[in-house]
Amino acid sequence: MNTDKTPILEARGLVKTFGRVVGLDGVDLELYPGEVLAVIGDNGAGKSTLIKCLTGAEIPDEGEIWLDDRLTRFKGPQDARAHGIETVYQNLALSPALDIAANLFLGREERKPGLLGSLLRVVDTKGMRRRARAELSALGITTLQDVTVPVENLSGGQRQAVAVARAAAFGSKVVVLDEPTAALGVRESNQVLELIRNLRDRGVPVILISHNMPHVFEVADRIHIQRLGKRAATITPETHSMTDAVAIMTGAREAGE
Ligand SMILES: Nc1ncnc2c1ncn2[C@@H]1O[C@H](COP(=O)(O)OP(=O)(O)OP(=O)(O)O)[C@@H](O)[C@H]1O
Ligand SMILES: [Mg+2]
Repeated sequence: MNTDKTPILEARGLVKTFGRVVGLDGVDLELYPGEVLAVIGDNGAGKSTLIKCLTGAEIPDEGEIWLDDRLTRFKGPQDARAHGIETVYQNLALSPALDIAANLFLGREERKPGLLGSLLRVVDTKGMRRRARAELSALGITTLQDVTVPVENLSGGQRQAVAVARAAAFGSKVVVLDEPTAALGVRESNQVLELIRNLRDRGVPVILISHNMPHVFEVADRIHIQRLGKRAATITPETHSMTDAVAIMTGAREAGE
């Protein structure tokens, strides 16, 4: 484990309230280079709120977020994205009618070189397809053979792969995945888990929110457990079992017991 290193992303004392409801009650989180950090917790424990604060979708009332050792205050999701934090939400936000390559470049289309691109803004479809193929193969994604296929024709797992590839493809520092295997079958889930490992091994740390304990234990290096708006513990699959994790999650047991 890399716990002697400086975290790439760090949250200190995050507080977020919604009227009288406390979403986050002073949460710390550390994401280290080269790791997959899972975030688990019961319904309402604050997982989504925590992730939203880290990805600019919510502004915390209190607390600090440090990215690359710099105190950061994201103005919104686009700002977080500009800082290298890519998030794949459960709805994936893909454009079904567009093909795989176009989806990978959604919102950052490349233009043709020369006047065609600079003056007429002609999109470089060929170049983007070439680069899409290269990105997919670099990520070890073999389930997407043809980048010209519209996303609406893909299976759930393949769509997830496109969304993850898009998050990973543009020099991102951190990739956050919200329940990426929730809607998937066994085989497709395994492919997404493999993709998460590939990402990590390429040097992009991943935060994975999941309710699926076997998946969490299969892929996570460390596991952040949220409970009632607080961090109850951070454990590892080596030191704790799934039963331990569930016990901490539900408050049946303290982390150290
Ligand atoms: N926009 C909001 N307005 C009011 N209350 C909110 C809002 N967002 C979250 N909450 C409350 O904050 C608490 C934490 O919610 P959050 O969505 O972060 O939980 P979660 O761990 O993601 O749960 P789940 O597993 O059900 O997705 C809950 O009590 C929730 O009702
Ligand atoms: Mg949630």
